[in-house]
Amino acid sequence: MITSDLLRNVGVRHIWIFSSFVTAMHLAEVLLLCACCTVLLAKSSRPNIIFILADDYGFHDIGYHKSEIKTPNLDKLAAAGVKLENYYVQPICTPTRSQFMSGRYQIHTGLQHGIIWGSQPNGLPLDSPTVADKIKQAGYSTHAVGKWHLGFYKDAYLPTNRGFDSYYGYLTGSEDYFTHKLCDNHFSRYLFCGLDLRNNTNPVFNETGHYSTSLFTERAISVIKDHIESKPFFLYLAYQSTHSPLQVPGKYLNPYSHIKDLNRRSFAGMTACMDEGIGNITAALNATGQLENTLIVFSTDNGGQIHAGGNNWPLRGWKASLWEGGFHGVGFVYGDMLKNKGTVNNQLIHVSDWFPTLVGVAGGNTNGTKPLDGFDQWKTISEGGASPRKELLHNIDILTHPKGAKLFNNTFDTRIRAAIRLGDWKLITGDPGNGSWIPPPHLSKETVMDKDDKAKNLWLFDIAKDPNEHNDLSASQPGIVKKLLDRLEYYQKTAIPRRYPDPDPKCDPKLHGGVWGPWE
Ligand SMILES: *[C@@H]1O[C@H](CO)[C@@H](O)[C@H](O)[C@H]1NC(C)=O
Ligand SMILES: *[C@@H]1O[C@H](CO)[C@@H](O)[C@H](O)[C@H]1NC(C)=O
Ligand SMILES: *[C@@H]1O[C@H](CO)[C@@H](O)[C@H](O)[C@H]1NC(C)=O
Ligand SMILES: *[C@@H]1O[C@H](CO)[C@@H](O)[C@H](O)[C@H]1NC(C)=O
Ligand SMILES: *[C@@H]1O[C@H](CO)[C@@H](O)[C@H](O)[C@H]1NC(C)=O
Repeated sequence: MITSDLLRNVGVRHIWIFSSFVTAMHLAEVLLLCACCTVLLAKSSRPNIIFILADDYGFHDIGYHKSEIKTPNLDKLAAAGVKLENYYVQPICTPTRSQFMSGRYQIHTGLQHGIIWGSQPNGLPLDSPTVADKIKQAGYSTHAVGKWHLGFYKDAYLPTNRGFDSYYGYLTGSEDYFTHKLCDNHFSRYLFCGLDLRNNTNPVFNETGHYSTSLFTERAISVIKDHIESKPFFLYLAYQSTHSPLQVPGKYLNPYSHIKDLNRRSFAGMTACMDEGIGNITAALNATGQLENTLIVFSTDNGGQIHAGGNNWPLRGWKASLWEGGFHGVGFVYGDMLKNKGTVNNQLIHVSDWFPTLVGVAGGNTNGTKPLDGFDQWKTISEGGASPRKELLHNIDILTHPKGAKLFNNTFDTRIRAAIRLGDWKLITGDPGNGSWIPPPHLSKETVMDKDDKAKNLWLFDIAKDPNEHNDLSASQPGIVKKLLDRLEYYQKTAIPRRYPDPDPKCDPKLHGGVWGPWE
């Protein structure tokens, strides 16, 4: 949509420029020239795209959600753009990233369960192009900075083989912000330790002590400064912030000495640094004259982690749960090309939607992808139209331990961990994870514990009326329950087998120069 608008605008401008030559030329020649120039001009006036993904950044952690943490730069961009307030991601890291990159639900990529641990031979399947592949095909230069977390056990899974011209970042899910090292003992029979920082495919040994938020900001700014005028760029900037470990240079803590909870104080400092970095990026765009022609999307990857300073108040639950606190995400879009600047968007939008949306903005096509689960939301965001998305499969995870008793024989098995949204209705089954309501420490409010029966495995909420999931309607709305269970059953039939392989000791960084990287 934006491309045809641009084409039209450019076309009009072009015809105006060339009108004085018309008398001297044959009309046919002019039209031919027009057509060629229009294509060239349109290509170069397509916007740059920066997608910023924050890590474990909760619903209550951004200034404009009445947070006690100040985010002046994010607030400014969001206020001048479109705030997405009915925006969903996935409850944990790899799943959100996989859906952004592929435009496909986890049941369709085999990544239904958990994350990809550094020692697992796993990755986002190679059978469908990534959003970066498609944007690159549309003529963009493409750059990834920061966290990958989509697999690296073979070269083919590395970012530079998944559509990115350049990559600077780390391949696993978390590490030390200063040393860029990770020790992973998730599978308790093993302990693997190594450096995890790469420039393209080469390990980077000389950045010890360089705080990753600054390092990645500087790398992003060099992408912005080095980029060639004639070719728009796509920058995927996946910050390490604000994931644990809670580490931040002391100066960012100074404004938050009044926050008594030490985790929350560190988290506030980490957020402040990220906000400053995004301010620096905006300033670099401005200084190089590219701000007007850059579309910036900001998104979290999942809800805040309560145990590591994050907060999702007033939503229920947190990271890794199927409650709203797990995946009702912070997100906004900024850019001069938005028609609806300065608005709040309440349409249902999901992280899988960025694939067709951004490929569309880039003037590309989705040829050659496996069937997408995402929808093109450009009109919804830019013009405030109705979302084409009526339904959202949050996930079906057959590997999580089943919970309670099977309640019905002729539809989806309620013991399985799953959640789905249809219009305003949300249905949850199985074990959704901790469902407490946890206020941020400074409010001195009591945590409201989840009082549900231990064997309960079915909930229904009207999210529009009850966004914080206080009133389970599953007993009073059996028809809606049946309908949504049938939809889960339908989706489960389209699922491919989940892949969650055992750790492979050959991953050990000791065998690879002390660095995490491909081992097969
Ligand atoms: C990254 O590697 C490329 C070559 O692959 C090199 O040109 C560039 O200078 C390196 N950048 C940094 C920041 O090390
Ligand atoms: C590390 O090496 C790269 C590539 O030579 C260089 O660009 C970068 O400035 C170095 N970093 C430090 C902290 O010296
Ligand atoms: C932002 O830019 C300022 C001024 O150059 C610098 O001091 C600061 O470290 C930068 N912040 C980040 C997070 O990169
Ligand atoms: C861009 O820079 C100009 C000139 O310094 C300044 O007036 C303007 O506020 C800046 N815009 C943004 C969005 O930072
Ligand atoms: C995409 O596929 C359609 C249908 O196969 C085809 O008509 C179109 O030319 C293709 N576009 C590109 C750019 O390959």
